[in-house]
Amino acid sequence: MQRKIAIIGTGYVGLTIGACFASLGHKVICVDKDVEKISKLCKGEIPIHEPGIEEILKKYKENIDYTSDIKKAIKESQILFIAVGTPSTEDGKIDMQYFRNAVQEIAENMDGYRVVVDKSTVPVGTADWVKEEIKKRYKGKFSVVSNPEFLREGSALKDFLEPDRIVIGTEDEKAKKIMLDIYSSIKAPKLITDIKSAELIKYAANAFLATKISFINEISNLCEKVGGDITKVAQGIGMDKRIGSKFLNAGIGYGGSCFPKDVDGLLSISSKYGYNLGLLRVVAEVNKMQQEKFMEKIKSMLLKTKGDTVAVWGLSFKPNTDDVRKSPALFIVTMLCKEGIKTRVYDPIAMENAKKELSFENIHFCESALETTKRADVLVLLTEWPEFAEIDFKEVKKRMRHLYVLDGRNHLKAEEIKKLGFYYEGIGKK
Ligand code: UDX
Repeated sequence: MQRKIAIIGTGYVGLTIGACFASLGHKVICVDKDVEKISKLCKGEIPIHEPGIEEILKKYKENIDYTSDIKKAIKESQILFIAVGTPSTEDGKIDMQYFRNAVQEIAENMDGYRVVVDKSTVPVGTADWVKEEIKKRYKGKFSVVSNPEFLREGSALKDFLEPDRIVIGTEDEKAKKIMLDIYSSIKAPKLITDIKSAELIKYAANAFLATKISFINEISNLCEKVGGDITKVAQGIGMDKRIGSKFLNAGIGYGGSCFPKDVDGLLSISSKYGYNLGLLRVVAEVNKMQQEKFMEKIKSMLLKTKGDTVAVWGLSFKPNTDDVRKSPALFIVTMLCKEGIKTRVYDPIAMENAKKELSFENIHFCESALETTKRADVLVLLTEWPEFAEIDFKEVKKRMRHLYVLDGRNHLKAEEIKKLGFYYEGIGKK
């Protein structure tokens, strides 16, 4: 059955789920306070980089509207998804101002039964707070649901339409029926839980994945000491179905808009409840240490003279996205620049976003990966874009001053590179 859905917030999650619900045949209104963004969306200009989203939005344009009039969206829809940003504050807490504003608008403009869905990642107990806030202003019936989102940038549409599971946190039969109905054409297990468990599932899932990454990064450091190969170790442990082979790639640590924020968020929730999540604290520390350790490796390969030059491949927090939020690559480039090292960088699509974050005199934004290597002493790979693995190292050799390659993602063809006379070092192996 076609349902009327309002999506409040047209950021990454909001726009993706809006497009997907439209493709499932529902009538969607995407709302954003940013008038300019809405007018661009109306003209078919997409503010995010996500493979396939443009096509979906075009194909199902009959089912999707954009507005900055939140009142209209609330009045015309039965299901209201809150998908606004909940970024981390400086001290690791969760910034709820956009979320609070959205709830306020909902409370003031509801004129009949609505299902209010928390899609943003919010602290445990938020749904109870939402109920109370709405009750203060609206006396009719309504439901609040927690429906966490697990989509990854770069594969967001597939993650939404073919998920491993759909989690619906509700204690209300009517809302449960409506939620199951809007997802009825998606073939995936649907887990119905109480609201607090659903709120915790999102944080716990991301915290567990971050733990897996920090764990393998620690083992990679041990591999370097004892002389093992982390790729083989990861393969060997990943073959145990209880462990699983995914998220065991050692590297320079995790970044992005979710893992660092959700790890900090869960730590802040746990301390609020008087529980010390010591394991997770270490996960975050290991992640930071991994980046610092890599920086030390780069420095150890330089001559420590004024002309020291580092070529950098990759700036986004992972491949296939232009997102540089909490990117380990950006962190390392920043450290290089602050050390006064000449830094020549290239990323296939994240250059514009990176430029906004990196205003140093000693940084040079290059037109291609090869161009970065001109008179460079060390080449470092920070993001594993597929195209970097295909670059001809004979050409790289012609350009570099010293032949050092540090592969922060174990992505390059190490044997071929070594044969050409380069000194190559990956992560957790020689
Ligand atoms: C993540 C979660 O996967 C997703 O379920 C959630 O909804 C949002 O956060 P995303 O941030 O898009 O998605 O990226 P993801 O592919 O999970 O990678 C996160 C970071 O971990 C990247 O910096 C990546 O380089 C790093 N990573 C991932 C590793 O270092 N090693 C791995 O094995 C996997």
